[in-house]
Amino acid sequence: MLLTRSEIDRRVNDLAGQISRDYAGCDLLLIGVLKGAFIFMADLARALSIPCQTDFIRAASYGAGSESSGTIVITKDVDAEVRGRDVLIIEDIIDTGLTLRHIVDTLMLRQPKSIKVCAFLDKRRRRKIPFEADYVGFSMEDGFVVGYGLDFNEQDRHWPDVYVIPNPV
Ligand code: IMP
Ligand code: MG
Repeated sequence: MLLTRSEIDRRVNDLAGQISRDYAGCDLLLIGVLKGAFIFMADLARALSIPCQTDFIRAASYGAGSESSGTIVITKDVDAEVRGRDVLIIEDIIDTGLTLRHIVDTLMLRQPKSIKVCAFLDKRRRRKIPFEADYVGFSMEDGFVVGYGLDFNEQDRHWPDVYVIPNPV
């Protein structure tokens, strides 16, 4: 096991406190990246003490196995108006950085007032392009993780804790 439910709870509450302070008085729009972010976003949003709206986006990376290919396509767009809003993208994990780079660039074209990223997990050493999140739950080394929204072949998203899978194929 990498992270227990109670470690996760504590960290998510810390992040929510920080975000509530940073975005006090703002027009906050949370955009969750499906499907992986659905549990993190549900917990984070419920721990916020400020108003916000919630929406979702979905991106697919064409390629095989557990790695991004580099070709990212938006397969479900946000419904909300982005222009002039304070957008906070909620993601499960940053690996190569390619998915978030594409999502941020796409949303930037719609002229939000601000755009930041909050990722539950960050595999900093695996970037293929430079990408920094503004809020990170936990940083981790190499390894493939499941649970708390994260999947392996669409399995295990519902596990309340986060586990490392030894050799994903
Ligand atoms: P990136 O474009 O390489 O940064 O890929 C990010 C996406 O890859 C995440 O949204 C996840 O869906 C997936 N991903 C990367 N690493 C893991 C992992 O360890 N477990 C589960 N999914 C992962
Ligand atoms: Mg995934």
